[in-house]
Amino acid sequence: DPGLVTMGEKLFRKCKACHQVGDGAKNRVGPVLTGIVGRPVGTVEGFRYSKPMAQAGEGGLIWDHKSLGAFLADPKSYMPKTKMSFSGLRKQEEIDAILAYLASTAE
Ligand code: HEM
Repeated sequence: DPGLVTMGEKLFRKCKACHQVGDGAKNRVGPVLTGIVGRPVGTVEGFRYSKPMAQAGEGGLIWDHKSLGAFLADPKSYMPKTKMSFSGLRKQEEIDAILAYLASTAE
């Protein structure tokens, strides 16, 4: 849905303080998010994750629509002690839009 992707691209402004996507993206406060949908959790090369996020990845967790939706709705409830300081997206439509945008960034 191109409308949802466009909405998600706008909403991604909330994430840009800490995350980059696309050509030339670098790890900053948070890891690069290009192609994150479908990837194992906590596995971006060169980024130092919190213990719970690294362990979730080692345990086999994948960032799919369900896990990423739950994390973005309320990061600290989904993963206590994550070092992502973000209050979360309250509206399901915003979550769907950001996920559509992130899925569109896959290389
Ligand atoms: C981790 C998405 C906002 C800082 C992550 C991860 C995702 C994500 C998917 C896991 C990446 C992986 O497994 O490699 C988003 C989205 C945001 C957002 C979509 C906006 C809606 C922010 C903001 C900050 C931030 C505003 C900084 C204030 C971090 C940090 C991590 C992280 C530090 C690593 C967490 C850890 O190791 O526990 N983010 N993020 N994020 N994010 Fe965000």
